[in-house]
Amino acid sequence: MSIPTSIRRNPFIVGSWVRGEDFFGRSGVIQEILEGERHSIWVLGARRLGKTSLLKEIEHRVERSRDTPFVALYWDLQGSADARGLAETLVASVEDSEAFCRATDVTIDELESLPVADMLATLVRRTVRSGWRLLLLIDEAEELLVVGRSDPGTLARMRRVLSRGGDVRAVVTATRTLARLDDEARLATSPFLQGFIPPVYLTPLTPEESLPLLARGEFSPEDMETIVARTACHPFLIQLLASRLFESGDLAATLEQLGADEMVANFFTVDFQTLSEDERVFLSEVAREGSRTRRELASATGHPEDAVDVALYGLTMLGYLTRDGEAYRLGNWLFERWMRRRL
Ligand SMILES: Nc1ncnc2c1ncn2[C@@H]1O[C@H](COP(=O)(O)OP(=O)(O)OP(=O)(O)O)[C@@H](O)[C@H]1O
Ligand SMILES: [Mg+2]
Repeated sequence: MSIPTSIRRNPFIVGSWVRGEDFFGRSGVIQEILEGERHSIWVLGARRLGKTSLLKEIEHRVERSRDTPFVALYWDLQGSADARGLAETLVASVEDSEAFCRATDVTIDELESLPVADMLATLVRRTVRSGWRLLLLIDEAEELLVVGRSDPGTLARMRRVLSRGGDVRAVVTATRTLARLDDEARLATSPFLQGFIPPVYLTPLTPEESLPLLARGEFSPEDMETIVARTACHPFLIQLLASRLFESGDLAATLEQLGADEMVANFFTVDFQTLSEDERVFLSEVAREGSRTRRELASATGHPEDAVDVALYGLTMLGYLTRDGEAYRLGNWLFERWMRRRL
């Protein structure tokens, strides 16, 4: 007999990152990061698509694995602003990672006075000396745009350490905004993102990955199907809708509420701003018409068809668009509601 909802704890997590038993899906991208050939990887994801969760899950798995060549270090760049700030956030990540300190015998004392690029070089050297390779998991990499404006030299020095092939594998997560880095911060050496592009796209979950998550709510099969359809398995939206449904028990009313919710509208506004100008134009055009082919998009916006292809590929991977035969439609119902209101 199932326990009534009123006394069961809400099993959905909305907002904070997840890992371990709360983390669903993503086996392909995790395998690519841990077992693939590339040593520099940019995981490009939209806002709230699960970038932090992915890095935290990878750190967690590496810490628990008996047969990995890596020692993982999670580094959140948010708020770093300049070279000194980067050094401070890097020291903080070492301090926070008991597993890293244990595996490498690094102490905070030997790092603290170093500039950030030397600090990175020391971390790589100590990791290698201990018989490991460094898996550096860099979150909120858009912060490099801020650093690059005042201090491109630091970016160039960091890049030199991070591109040392076998000893260090660097994974950065960021939205599309990061693409501006190589135009804004002109390094005397190679562009920072060289090696990191093309990006690996973080996609929404698949329905198969989402159903075990939804099963936590003990919803009816029909409700689960509707949640999958309306959110297109965007992990944040699916958790949000499931969490609200868990409390209310009424899917139709909950969907209506979410469609008009200010917090959801703010989320889409912030997310939309991370896209390129062209991407926003294409999405607006699809929203206006309901569905568009690549040829229609090219003629409506005056772009050559191959430029349209690049944007459509990225927008589809990120879940903003979905293929419908030859045409493209907006990726999920909540996003469509917001786009329509915006127009
Ligand atoms: N693999 C996953 N399994 C289940 N839920 C997930 C997963 N990834 C993300 N989520 C859900 O999405 C929310 C946002 O995840 P997370 O904070 O990792 O995203 P983010 O891309 O780092 O967001 P931001 O752009 O704000 O930094 C989480 O609170 C959780 O509800
Ligand atoms: Mg994050």
